[in-house]
Amino acid sequence: MPDSTTIQARSAVLRRSFRKEFPAAVRGEGIYVLDADGNQYLDLAGSAAVNFIGHGVPEISAAMAEQAAKLEFVHTSQFTTPVAEAYAEELLAFAGEHFRGGAVYFTCGGSESIETALKLARQYQIEIGQPDRHQILSRQQSYHGSTLGALSVSGNKRRREIYLPMVREFSHVGMPYCYRCDFDCSDGCRNCGQQYAPELERAIETTNGEAAGFIFEPVSGATLGAVVPPPGYLQIVAEICRRHGVLLIADEVMTGMGRTGRNFAVEHYDVVPDILVTAKGLSSGYAPLGAVIATSKVVEAIAAGSGAFLHGFTYNAHPISLAAGRAVLRYLQERHLVEAGDSSRPGTPASHFKQALESLRNENAVGDVRGIGLLWAVEFVADKSTKRPFPPEQNFAGRVASAALKRGAVCSSIPCKAASTASPVSTYSWRRLRSSPPSKLHGPSDSCVRPRWTRSLHSEVTLRPEWTGQRTISLNHSLSLSSDSCLRCRSRRRSA
Ligand SMILES: Cc1ncc(COP(=O)(O)O)c(C=O)c1O
Repeated sequence: MPDSTTIQARSAVLRRSFRKEFPAAVRGEGIYVLDADGNQYLDLAGSAAVNFIGHGVPEISAAMAEQAAKLEFVHTSQFTTPVAEAYAEELLAFAGEHFRGGAVYFTCGGSESIETALKLARQYQIEIGQPDRHQILSRQQSYHGSTLGALSVSGNKRRREIYLPMVREFSHVGMPYCYRCDFDCSDGCRNCGQQYAPELERAIETTNGEAAGFIFEPVSGATLGAVVPPPGYLQIVAEICRRHGVLLIADEVMTGMGRTGRNFAVEHYDVVPDILVTAKGLSSGYAPLGAVIATSKVVEAIAAGSGAFLHGFTYNAHPISLAAGRAVLRYLQERHLVEAGDSSRPGTPASHFKQALESLRNENAVGDVRGIGLLWAVEFVADKSTKRPFPPEQNFAGRVASAALKRGAVCSSIPCKAASTASPVSTYSWRRLRSSPPSKLHGPSDSCVRPRWTRSLHSEVTLRPEWTGQRTISLNHSLSLSSDSCLRCRSRRRSA
């Protein structure tokens, strides 16, 4: 990496790591990010499962500029805006019939949206005369965000550990993870879903009537890496919540807005949540944006009750972010990008992506390849037959991700706890890679993208026998959208 494009380890920015060098990105085009020297990076991570429509789409920046020129901001305690009203209607329609008559609360991202959903669930219970209900149940190995409320319902050890004394904890139930299942999965995982779901019922009963909501990721993203639920599991969970008066909160921050080949991932499993949370792909990264989409049941309880949701951020429903989100929604609908992200539909970019990733299954170090739509993960093992993971200190997935970056491909590695160190803060190494690319690969992009990332992963897995130590990598990428975006065909600055 040339020095001129790398911001050195110490800088005025408090960055995510003092041990890592970061290339300085200056431009995005389609599925590529470019640095100051013109090096191009194939964005197989979609940043972090954010970018779904591709980088540098001019329609989005034009919509943002137009809104900024007209009205940059007003406070939601004083005004609404035409862009907020129109966009909320469009999102409710996108979320489906079940949300008809509901309402949307706009935030600046995933964690803010989760905080909002947790408080909305609590207030709903008070409004309907259930003031004892304040506990939010969740699942082990989940991730719901980095603010303290979101951390309290997350199961991701790395992100929670040092803050645990500061968070209020409720029950975390087991999460089906069929590759490493606690139950018998020889029947195509039918049994394990039936085994896991009742854990929730027991946890609800243990709260003695204090459970307000249950939050879940339909497909686990940031912690386990693209783990798809076993058949029937989510339906049973939804039915348990309904029976016990517990609100069902679907966290679709990562999986929403087409990422899994449906508008929202819950549609794969015929589950209708009371509250649906989304972010990331909502604005595809063009502006900070999140949304909490509530059914009429929840909204009416407050409207007919106290009449005010006791919550708010200064930048709720920021007009420029909403203009970006609205333009992204229009763009992905006009270009049928949700369909492009359906990995079960032959010929789609997502099905090619799936095929390419699945070719890694033959590698000795690859234990599992899993996912749906454009959200996939590869889990590495030292021994395929026993599923023994690589020793965490080898940081296998992290090294594969670094090697891929050197070849100009970006993917996300997912951490697990490493061997103990002298530091009071535990260190983590990367055992899985996640890939969630943008959604529209067309002719030339398709033919160069797939071999490129496959080679990046392949070469690291197969050519480095000493890298026998880690577990998973997940690759999120956005598929490029327009016919002129295949930069690699125009310029080959890096060898793949
Ligand atoms: C499922 C899920 N929920 C919540 C969040 C938090 O979102 P944000 O990082 O935008 O605050 C994330 C982020 O990765 C996520 O994957």
